[in-house]
Amino acid sequence: MIEIVADTEALARRAAELFAAAARRAVETGGRFRVALSGGGTPRRCYELLASAPFREQVPWTAVEIFWGDERCVAPDDPRSNARMAREALLKQVPLPSEQIHPMFSFGDPATAARDYEQLLGDFFGEKEPSFDLVLLGLGEDGHTASLFPGSPALEEKERWVRVTQRPEEEIFRLTLTLPLLNRATQVVFLVAGDSKTAILCQVLAEDEAVQPLPAQLIRPQPGELLWLVDRAAAGK
Ligand code: 6PG
Repeated sequence: MIEIVADTEALARRAAELFAAAARRAVETGGRFRVALSGGGTPRRCYELLASAPFREQVPWTAVEIFWGDERCVAPDDPRSNARMAREALLKQVPLPSEQIHPMFSFGDPATAARDYEQLLGDFFGEKEPSFDLVLLGLGEDGHTASLFPGSPALEEKERWVRVTQRPEEEIFRLTLTLPLLNRATQVVFLVAGDSKTAILCQVLAEDEAVQPLPAQLIRPQPGELLWLVDRAAAGK
């Protein structure tokens, strides 16, 4: 499903509404809300709105468990850290116990951090296969999502839940959840804003079988729900 909203502020507000609704639904049915946050710039305003009225009061924060869809392998206070952005924009402002915030990377070897995060997911979800109530994702201009980049071997991963990847021309490593885990989510919402995304969004939604699918096109939650939340600028054509 695609929902087009007027601009970036409307997108942030709608995303906050969806987050709050998903949180209430999950807590009512299962007592916890397990969400994987997106990094990048687009979600920041949504996180800021969630930390403010009226959304702050609409989310049962004490039952929320925060995970990430991906992370850059940098120090927690590095401006590139997705966890840092979420901490500044949201997590420091809401009554969420720190033991319910599960950052992907703090220091050390990326491969060890990937295995540690898989262990954390296994411990948290127990014998059930991990599945998130909500996954927020962004869309890169090359069609990447989370830190699954075009041509990455991580796109073929069928077993593991977390892989080490690298963005082309970027010297740092990244951690990303893999497609099997992302596609088990109850609800996946892409947040796409701005005219720089018009071309790639058009390509992603065109679903042209003739070409190699882009990472974002491989996000097909089953039986979960997929929503493309885009602003008018990104919707362009
Ligand atoms: C990251 C994100 C990445 C992001 C897209 C879009 O860690 O960078 O997970 O997948 O969502 O690159 O980024 P913008 O929202 O900044 O356009």
